[in-house]
Amino acid sequence: MPLMGPREMFEAAYAGRYAVGAFNVNNMEIVQGIMRAASGEKSPVILQVSSGARKYAGQAYIMKLVEAALTEDPSVPVVVHLDHGPSFEMCRDCIDGGFTSVMIDGSHLPYEENVALTQKVVDYAHAKKVWVEAELGKLAGVEEHVRSDGHVYTDPEQAVDFVDRTGCDSLAVAIGTSHGAYKFKGEAKLDFERLEAISDKLPDYPLVLHGASSVPQDFVSLCNRYGGQVGGAKGVPEDMLRKAAALGVCKINVDTDIRLALTASIRQFMAENPGKFDPRDYLSPARDAVKNMVARKMRNVMGSSGKA
Ligand code: G3H
Ligand code: 13P
Ligand code: ZN
Repeated sequence: MPLMGPREMFEAAYAGRYAVGAFNVNNMEIVQGIMRAASGEKSPVILQVSSGARKYAGQAYIMKLVEAALTEDPSVPVVVHLDHGPSFEMCRDCIDGGFTSVMIDGSHLPYEENVALTQKVVDYAHAKKVWVEAELGKLAGVEEHVRSDGHVYTDPEQAVDFVDRTGCDSLAVAIGTSHGAYKFKGEAKLDFERLEAISDKLPDYPLVLHGASSVPQDFVSLCNRYGGQVGGAKGVPEDMLRKAAALGVCKINVDTDIRLALTASIRQFMAENPGKFDPRDYLSPARDAVKNMVARKMRNVMGSSGKA
């Protein structure tokens, strides 16, 4: 199956009240781990590429890795998406380079500027039949090109105006999640009333949840046991993600959990095998750790297993 856009994926997810996982990819082992999970689970999947990933691996390398992965199991429905596109130019380069979906992230801009930038990307993308995700509201924490110290939750009325005026195809909303491994100081809490209000005002419209890693405590413990210092890390509880999926969230973004799975595995291997130095020895179990984590998430959190 060639790469596809998200439309059919999200229509099915919306109707079935499940979500499609969007996983950040940076190298071959991550692409393979995610794709093997999707293949085993018979799940649709979104591979997303941040501007940092483009800089690290190079867009051409990533696209070739995805192409190679598709030949391993052509039955997996795959979208390739630009995550947090910072500018029109980067969105354009990704569209021209074969991405089937882009995110323009103008969430840090004043409202009218976010509208104008998103409209510009939508005009270019739609002429080439490419999907556009935009963002309204601010997540706390560090986004790759913008630091926001506090949340600014998405206003439901403004979300309707934004979607109407920009024509964006999906919208990332701020309801209390944040990027990274330290999402909540105390108890985890999301503003589900707000999510429901946005979803009610935008019926049949796919919403997106960023900062949605669950930060599994077994990975945190493994990292800490083998020399890491990620104490106090806390993510979004899995039942909250399932609830979000039932309220119009069709795309759930995960990067931190991939980083934790890889790093926990590599730390453990290094500590237990001090004499080994062949990268294949530690990257193979690390790749399996990503695969197992993603497969579990597709089954138990996204609800996307068996939907390919
Ligand atoms: O939302 C941000 C993603 O986790 C990507 O992070 O910019 O370090 O690649 P990155
Ligand atoms: P996490 O940091 O929770 O994995 O979020 C990733 C994300 O939103 C990528 O856009
Ligand atoms: Zn994000």
